[in-house]
Amino acid sequence: MQAPKGYSRTQIALHWAAFLLIVQQFVLHEGIAEAWDVIEEGGVPAFDPVVAAHVFGGMAVLAFALWRLVLRRTRGVPELPAGEPALARMAAHLGHYALYALMILMPLSGAVAWFGGVEAAGEAHEAMKPLMLILVAVHVFAALWHQFWLKDNLLVRMKRPAD
Ligand code: HEM
Ligand code: HEM
Repeated sequence: MQAPKGYSRTQIALHWAAFLLIVQQFVLHEGIAEAWDVIEEGGVPAFDPVVAAHVFGGMAVLAFALWRLVLRRTRGVPELPAGEPALARMAAHLGHYALYALMILMPLSGAVAWFGGVEAAGEAHEAMKPLMLILVAVHVFAALWHQFWLKDNLLVRMKRPAD
């Protein structure tokens, strides 16, 4: 399959929707962390819309990540910018797949903890939090590095659809 010239409207929309939802997950984490403490102490937490937003928002991230992986296979994604050293290409691929892995593993571990009451899954969920923060920080730094240092206008690829 020949690589398309850019990302599609749907791929771009899914990238930014997942970004906004992940920001929401970090902002709205206290409610569910408190409810989880109540569950761990054997209680039943009261209904809280902030907790529901964390659960549904996180499940949407999972759905969007899987949808994006399907689109990667069926439609394809553009080649990495030309002239990138081999090491930078490898780092970009690794970084992108690690982000996909976290967009899948964080909701899955959260769901197993929340719906299955599995304490270890809750611990894994919490342990992935700094990994996600570090990877997103590196990803954003790389995007800004391309934009303002290498001046190859990489950000436009996630702004202007090529379909
Ligand atoms: C990409 C998706 C998600 C992200 C980025 C995320 C992020 C977070 C963060 C930052 C915390 C606070 C951890 C702490 O106490 O320091 C948390 C807690 C929690 N989340 Fe999520 N979450 C996601 C999806 C979900 C989903 C889908 C569920 C359930 C269906 C869920 C259930 C929980 C539970 C039970 C806790 C409390 C236990 C714990 O502290 O680990 N999360 N989440
Ligand atoms: C939670 C935050 C984010 C996550 C999880 C995320 C995830 C991803 C992933 C997995 C890709 C690879 C897409 C693919 O080829 O399938 C990607 C591409 C991209 N992201 Fe993000 N992203 C986030 C935030 C951002 C932000 C804030 C920016 C801008 C500053 C950004 C700019 C880009 C750009 C420009 C690309 C295209 C790179 C290329 O074509 O090689 N992302 N993102």
